[in-house]
Amino acid sequence: MRVCEEAPGSRFNPDCADGSVSDHDASWWKKAVIYQIYPRSFQDSNEDGIGDIPGICSRVDYLVKLGIDAVWLAPICPSPMDDFGYDIADFTGVDPVFGTMEDFDRLLSLLHERGIRLILDFVPNHTSDRHAWFRESRRSKNDLRRDWYVWRSPAKDGGPPNNWLSRFGGSAWEYDEGSGEYYYHAFLKSQPDLNWRNPEVRKAMHDVLRFWMRRGVDGFRLDAAAVTVEDDLLRDDPPLDGDLSEVPPPEHQQRIYSDNRPETLEFLDELRQVVAEFPGRVLLGEVDTSPENACRFYGETKPRIDLPLNYRLLDVEWTAAEVEAELDQYYNLLPAHAWPNWALGSHDKRRIAERRSEAGARLAALLLFTLRGTAIFYQGDELGILQVPIPPERVSDPFEKLVPGFQLGRDGERAPMRWDAARNAGFSRVEPWLPIGPNSERQNVEALKRNPHSILWLYIELIRLRRQEPALLMGEYEPLRRDGEVVKFKRVRNDTCIAVLANFGSDFKEVKLPPHARMLVTTYLDRNLPSGTSLQLRPYEGVVLSISEGAYV
Ligand code: GLC
Ligand code: CA
Repeated sequence: MRVCEEAPGSRFNPDCADGSVSDHDASWWKKAVIYQIYPRSFQDSNEDGIGDIPGICSRVDYLVKLGIDAVWLAPICPSPMDDFGYDIADFTGVDPVFGTMEDFDRLLSLLHERGIRLILDFVPNHTSDRHAWFRESRRSKNDLRRDWYVWRSPAKDGGPPNNWLSRFGGSAWEYDEGSGEYYYHAFLKSQPDLNWRNPEVRKAMHDVLRFWMRRGVDGFRLDAAAVTVEDDLLRDDPPLDGDLSEVPPPEHQQRIYSDNRPETLEFLDELRQVVAEFPGRVLLGEVDTSPENACRFYGETKPRIDLPLNYRLLDVEWTAAEVEAELDQYYNLLPAHAWPNWALGSHDKRRIAERRSEAGARLAALLLFTLRGTAIFYQGDELGILQVPIPPERVSDPFEKLVPGFQLGRDGERAPMRWDAARNAGFSRVEPWLPIGPNSERQNVEALKRNPHSILWLYIELIRLRRQEPALLMGEYEPLRRDGEVVKFKRVRNDTCIAVLANFGSDFKEVKLPPHARMLVTTYLDRNLPSGTSLQLRPYEGVVLSISEGAYV
């Protein structure tokens, strides 16, 4: 089924010779580079200004050129789009704005033919209020679907049952005139929470997973996986003390009773079992990977979520000391069976290039592809796209509209892909749903492909190198002592040893070279190793070196 084709005559070819892409390889995802596609913003094919599945089909060659192993696709199911697809009205369909089920099947087979796997977003916590289940549930207190959602009587004063806050602002309870009760919504009021304590809900959601796995998808990213269950005593969340003027109102409480409940883990284990019915599928999860929680979501003793998404490289303070500590802490807290992962961006996070500047974004890419663990990045980060400024009249994200003034809006990272210097950057022939942003004539796939030193080529080179070097794919991670602003580590497998040096400083820094070192990549893609026993690292430069085992210790 997974045929590994050579893309004709190009240096970008995926190298399938190592057999890493095959049905028999249950842990393919450990070696994988996963690319997140936000379908509304990847490629429009029917001139409505919104990206769609036929658009993605037309760009599969690009994915092959990048060398990625899997796509994680944000939701494509029918949706009123209040939260741009994360408010689902039918879990087993395709929204007409994205195309048809035939389009979906075509995308899946196009990807599989090229050795690329497909991971779908699965949104367990809530549905749209226009989902048939919710329409039935709200009909009356006695409806058979009533208990599929979280309904409660008003408090004595007629107000909401407790003080829980929606993550998107205001109370998390919405009063329903018709039936005289409140329903719970962790996000928008048009995103009512499913009642995961109800076995029928669980069964129905398990069948959703089976539906897509039968169609051939290779795994899921569990959206907001830790908020599926709330305290059944409905205890009030404790308010935070102190000056909260800088804190967005939805964060004015500690989510003790409305987040990260232990019951959630039980339901995650059930999802895991369902996924295990089909060989070779992977579970990613949007969960808290702080030191307190990473272990729970990985599973303390046996796998729960294979890859709880880890955004530390994006969120860490960008100094050598902080990064060194962050790497150490993360690797050390993982349970024995766990496989690490690193993610550089998403449709919910401010762009890496905006946070770190381009040189820093290059350094981050170097770490992403050379650290031990699955590598995950977000469309457009390979072009070094910055946060796109959104004029007030173009704001689309409900988060920004409902909690203004805290820079919470996510439109800036959801702006369209830039393919070429044509109008609207080749994304669409009509005005796109979000602005393209400045500098797209120079910063687009075609232009960056012409520049051999571009960040796009750095991504391609690093992905190619990683694929070729078993030490980078599966080798041990061995930290080395930091040298001032230079973070160092080795990746070792059998007799191969690779050293990574990353200069976080704004100054030049001389580093010693072991004998016989070879330069594999520099983040500026512009030089080989000088002769001699030392190397002058430039500001923010990172290098990958092949060295002999035992050197640098
Ligand atoms: C997840 C999604 C985000 C969405 C939210 C509510 O956090 O990544 O985009 O708004 O869930 O569904
Ligand atoms: Ca379209």
